[in-house]
Amino acid sequence: MPIEYKNIQIAMIDKIKALLQEVENMHAANAGELEALRIKYLSKKGEISMLMNDFRNVPAEQKREVGMYLNQLKETAQQKINELKESFENAQTSNDEIDLTRTAYPIQLGTRHPLSIVKKEICDIFGRLGFSIAEGPEIEDDWHVFSSLNFAEDHPARDMQDTFFIQHSPDVLLRTHTSSVQTRVMERQQPPIRIICPGRVYRNEAISYRAHCFFHQVEGLYVDKNVSFADLKQALLFFAKEMFGADTKIRLRPSYFPFTEPSAEMDISCNLCGGKGCAFCKHTGWVEILGCGMVDPNVLENCGIDSKVYTGYALGMGIERITNLKYQVKDLRMFSENDIRFLKQFESAN
Ligand code: DAH
Repeated sequence: MPIEYKNIQIAMIDKIKALLQEVENMHAANAGELEALRIKYLSKKGEISMLMNDFRNVPAEQKREVGMYLNQLKETAQQKINELKESFENAQTSNDEIDLTRTAYPIQLGTRHPLSIVKKEICDIFGRLGFSIAEGPEIEDDWHVFSSLNFAEDHPARDMQDTFFIQHSPDVLLRTHTSSVQTRVMERQQPPIRIICPGRVYRNEAISYRAHCFFHQVEGLYVDKNVSFADLKQALLFFAKEMFGADTKIRLRPSYFPFTEPSAEMDISCNLCGGKGCAFCKHTGWVEILGCGMVDPNVLENCGIDSKVYTGYALGMGIERITNLKYQVKDLRMFSENDIRFLKQFESAN
């Protein structure tokens, strides 16, 4: 039924404006609802087509204005329907793209750093002998790194050439060895003490394939009544066999450290040639792996432990050195360069 208009121009424009608002606010929750809207506005018998029919009755001089409104309505309706249609189609495809049954991409697992692997192995071996882990600060003071450990006032390690001092304070320095943790533990704990102390240490060295300004050490300390050099030797033999294999032999050579008396250095039979002699062991059949000795009574006294009642042994080794022996890493710098190609090789050692 054509609409009865009193003033056809004004009535049609009002109607068009009302429809325009409706169309602009159009919503459809699914494709069915959208199709219903299309029929309502744009089909042959839809609201807009009806208006088109009425348009014929608009007097010629008013056609221009009414026509403009009508076109705007038609275009808006078409555009809005298209937009809604597109949004449904997009939603449809993105749902289709997710295949919930597909096997997940493999997640690349990281690898443990070779130094961490070896550190853990050393700690585990001593753990089996009853040692527990102790740690201390890397930024230290003179007392814990040198004085308490019996270093003479003019010992070269106290020199700027060998030790990193923190500027403006001669008493703040980066520890040069993990022996400082010995003092820290003995100061706050009475024997029996049985600790293994892994950690990073710093020395003022030029960086090359065989030296770095930071590296890692493990310190061992056992203080109790009647601890003897024989106990030390037994623990060292156990460690060497666990770490490098049951056939490994050890030998102790007299040495000097300010904090132990007597002091020794330990060699193991070369694990590459089995002691026969090769380029790695410089044809001696032996390679040096650690320093050790009986804790100097002065050190015990410095830390408030009665040296007449207690004795102890200490040992210290470089983790890089042990790692090199195990994995034949030729260049120390590899450990801190984070080259994935190097690190990946230790995947199976995890
Ligand atoms: N602190 C020594 C170093 O940095 C290593 C060491 C030697 C530690 C003998 C000890 C020891 O506990 O008894 O070279």
